[in-house]
Amino acid sequence: MDALLALTILKVVHVLSASIWIGSIVSLSLAVRVVRSVVGNPHSVAISAEMGRRLRPLTRTSLYMTLASGILMAYERGFLSGLLSLDIHYRPVFVVLLKIALGVSVLLTVGYHASLGSSLVRAKDANGLPKVRRRMSIVGWLTVAFSVILAILGTVLRFG
Ligand code: HEM
Repeated sequence: MDALLALTILKVVHVLSASIWIGSIVSLSLAVRVVRSVVGNPHSVAISAEMGRRLRPLTRTSLYMTLASGILMAYERGFLSGLLSLDIHYRPVFVVLLKIALGVSVLLTVGYHASLGSSLVRAKDANGLPKVRRRMSIVGWLTVAFSVILAILGTVLRFG
């Protein structure tokens, strides 16, 4: 396939899936707050868990597609070879390294958030786990912050 066409397709997939990923996690985070303020604990836990479960195919697929297309695009644009040859004078190398580290961090926070959610749902008295709920909220917003930084770094790479 023509290299420019391949890069264009990857870029479209990357930007669209990144928009869906960020849009869905921001909406979900806000919806969880609304549900909690309307129905209160512990009912909000079950409703929030159900919303997360139903949206999971969209959130997970968009995240994986963003990460895969990002890595392929970095390869196509020669950023990965710059990284592997440890060319420290090549400025984008640091941005690519940071994007990879943040991409891995997002995978970890998403996994941790899901496991905290499972323990909250399994707990008999969800009111009795304020620490877990607080940690879930911090990890959730951290995931949003990492994802927004990844998008900003993507713009930096565009001009790199
Ligand atoms: C959740 C994770 C990620 C999000 C939300 C994200 C978001 C974005 C966005 C919005 C852009 C477009 C910026 C623009 O055109 O102005 C971009 C570009 C880019 N991203 Fe990502 N990204 C993510 C992960 C990754 C990863 C893990 C890599 C691998 C190194 C990567 C590599 C790239 C590259 C190479 C570009 C530049 C494309 C170009 O203009 O040639 N991205 N990213």
